[in-house]
Amino acid sequence: MANLSIKKPLDKLIEEAADDEKGLKRTLSAGNLIALGIGAIIGAGLFVRTASAAANNAGPSVTIGFIIAAIGCAFAGLCYAEFASMIPIAGSAYTYSYATMGELVAWIIGWDLVLEYALGAATVGIAWSEYLNKLLEYVGMHIPYEWCHSPFEKFTDAAGVVTAHGIMNIPALFIIFLLSLLLIKGTKESAFVNGLIVITKVAVVILFIVFGWSYINQANHSDYIPAATIYTDSQGIDHNYGGIMGILGAAGVVFFAFIGFDAVSTAAQEAKNPKRDMPIGILGSLAICTVLYILFAHVLTGVASVDDFRNQGREASVTYAINTYMHEYAWLAKLVTVAILAGFSSVILVMLMGQSRVFYSMSVDGLVPKIFSDLHPKFRTPYKSNLLFLGFVGIFAAFVPGDIVGDMTSIGTLFAFILVCAGVWIMRIKNPGVQRQFKTPLVPLVPILGMIVCGAMVFGLGWPNWVRLGVWMLIGIVIYFTYSIKNSKLNNPDKN
Ligand code: ALA
Repeated sequence: MANLSIKKPLDKLIEEAADDEKGLKRTLSAGNLIALGIGAIIGAGLFVRTASAAANNAGPSVTIGFIIAAIGCAFAGLCYAEFASMIPIAGSAYTYSYATMGELVAWIIGWDLVLEYALGAATVGIAWSEYLNKLLEYVGMHIPYEWCHSPFEKFTDAAGVVTAHGIMNIPALFIIFLLSLLLIKGTKESAFVNGLIVITKVAVVILFIVFGWSYINQANHSDYIPAATIYTDSQGIDHNYGGIMGILGAAGVVFFAFIGFDAVSTAAQEAKNPKRDMPIGILGSLAICTVLYILFAHVLTGVASVDDFRNQGREASVTYAINTYMHEYAWLAKLVTVAILAGFSSVILVMLMGQSRVFYSMSVDGLVPKIFSDLHPKFRTPYKSNLLFLGFVGIFAAFVPGDIVGDMTSIGTLFAFILVCAGVWIMRIKNPGVQRQFKTPLVPLVPILGMIVCGAMVFGLGWPNWVRLGVWMLIGIVIYFTYSIKNSKLNNPDKN
């Protein structure tokens, strides 16, 4: 009889990690951890989904959505930090849960992380495509609507007439293809390049806030929290707009902008002083991003109107806002566009890498087929896994609208956060004696508040997303009971 709550022994984990990583060095300071976090965090969530949340959900009160999302992330981040310091190896929520909560929960989290990493990469790929088109416009080129949108999108002109239908998002597919090949070849993530991208990203955000501030048109902010109503977007999709539901919906949408701070927790083994530096790294990068996000959203929704974000400014909204309303700053629009394209590429790379890393561990454990851990003879990368995910992510990037994959990423990650919050609380009760270098304060209050705030965002994302998450998890459960349980190394020691 298979044991669903079988746990991976800690010493085995550490032994595997030693094989795998050849002993990671403790070199990262709190400052490095903050930079790592910001590098993974700032991306499509800010530069694309802010405008989308303003248009569809909350108008200027998208700033309040950012605050709610940040609070949820802070509670969950404190829980992540305890897990990361308890299992002192490089890993993810999947690894932590296998050692602490058993195989079924680990499977659920690992399966759910596909939404965070694979679909997250697809979302940023689609956002990349929007800004690439803007960049091409500067050199007099233009990708036809059909070839940079999914078949579920249509272009409606000012008179309300549909003039084009999407067929396939080729640029989004292209960037996923390119970065997957780069991963296969093996990229030692260069701290220098990452540092450069972080500085550029933060610089353009600050420049936009500073220069845009004087272009804020108070009329755009006059209805700061719009009255609750239903807004039907140009694709025919209904959204709860305005009021509390609008703000919660916006929080769920822009939550995407914070995804990636958990990357800091995976570097626990490399931190010089994890007890002190992990919470500083996680909460520090969160705090800096939150302040930047709120100011940025305040300026963006002040410079351009909700109407803009619903129509001509729907795509590449930041470049649109600068070009349309900040005439003296054409150079900034160009700089922002280039910086955004570079910044998005690094986020996609981190996500694709995170995905192959999680499935690599699951494959080593026998929960998914061995193909996901087969290494390339020369490059020593899980190239078959990278190719399979290139296909999977590529399909979403090419054929599904960005808002849908983005919301699926948000809801999947929120679900993982809720499980991590629950996990920390459960572990305190079941295994109070395990050494924890960092302890989440005020347990169970902090985990409970984390679950409530993240749960509220799940609620705000609305029923189509609940159904998508439910279907995805159902597929996962079926795979677990038909494949994984029979092939799990822990559950079938004789087979190995
Ligand atoms: N937080 C990352 C982004 O916004 C995923 O692109």
